[in-house]
Amino acid sequence: MDKRIITSDLLIDEEVEGTLRPQYFNEYIGQKDVKEMIEIAVKAAKKRHESLDHVLLYGPPGLGKTTLAQVIANELDVNMKFVSGPTVERTGDLAAILTSLEAGDVLFIDEIHRLPKIVEEILYSSMEDYVIDIVVGKDAGAKSIRVDLSPFTLIGATTRFGDLTGPLRDRFGIIHKLEFYSDKDLETICKRTAGIYQCDTEDLAVIELAKRSRGTPRIVNRLFRRVRDFADILGDGYISLDITKKALDKLRIDDMGLDNKDREYLIGIIEKYHGGPVGLDTIATSISEDPTTLEDVYEPYLIQQGFISRTPRGRVVTEKAYKHLKKSYQGALF
Ligand SMILES: Nc1ncnc2c1ncn2[C@@H]1O[C@H](COP(=O)(O)OP(=O)(O)O)[C@@H](O)[C@H]1O
Ligand SMILES: [Mg+2]
Repeated sequence: MDKRIITSDLLIDEEVEGTLRPQYFNEYIGQKDVKEMIEIAVKAAKKRHESLDHVLLYGPPGLGKTTLAQVIANELDVNMKFVSGPTVERTGDLAAILTSLEAGDVLFIDEIHRLPKIVEEILYSSMEDYVIDIVVGKDAGAKSIRVDLSPFTLIGATTRFGDLTGPLRDRFGIIHKLEFYSDKDLETICKRTAGIYQCDTEDLAVIELAKRSRGTPRIVNRLFRRVRDFADILGDGYISLDITKKALDKLRIDDMGLDNKDREYLIGIIEKYHGGPVGLDTIATSISEDPTTLEDVYEPYLIQQGFISRTPRGRVVTEKAYKHLKKSYQGALF
């Protein structure tokens, strides 16, 4: 199995997300500072009739990296080509994409940390000088020809900033980390979603959904759809606080937004390893989960909420998590 494939169902809503995806800055909620800086860069590039500097967006899944890339392309009024790092296997694949770009276009590379090394290397000259060197012919007859590209903007997205090589990182002029959203921003996103689906929704239901969506727009939208199912089947379609609570409890999402897998992870460390420290691979094996999924999808929110901390010797569950899970805390053993 490819260890880097993220298997969690936190990620499988791609095809239904199309209708909800904001298209322009004014629909893109939250991420105020990032948005402000990118808006200025976009306006300046347009004013000077230049291509926008290359942009790198990073942060946990579901926070709006792909969406923001699309918004940037729409605001620039250019085409965007979309590829995913691991699917670009040969240098020729990337060369074909790069030579097809028109002046000002955006090339979006998702999971850019997973580009094969040899493919990544041809990105360097294309990002810096808008040229690529292509080798044609074989053996003694092989020669390298230089191909000019139209000036384009590369937008890279990654959940693993640390996995990017130095040379690649250095070639991005604009680098931003997306943060978890505030409850207020998630309420706004949830209301927007309710509007698109034309659902009548109680304000307290929106507040509840936002609170239990672990700071993530993708999750607030997904939970909203599940609650809507309950409202349609068990009620008359009205999304009340009561039906929202019932649905979220059935889905086993607790009042902090933790799901079964989060609890399995925390309780695993508490019961099998006295709360830690324990290494990521050990805990991953003990709960049959892929370590990369734990690290990229589950841990960022647990860390942000102060439920675990990362120490040089491994993960440690905090007193706050013991309290939340109603486990008695004996204090750290190290
Ligand atoms: N800032 C935002 N405002 C409103 N909705 C958002 C925002 N960011 C993300 N979303 C919603 O969340 C979904 C997931 O976002 P996406 O860009 O695919 O996340 P990522 O690429 O970081 O995993 C989108 O389809 C969109 O509906
Ligand atoms: Mg994405």
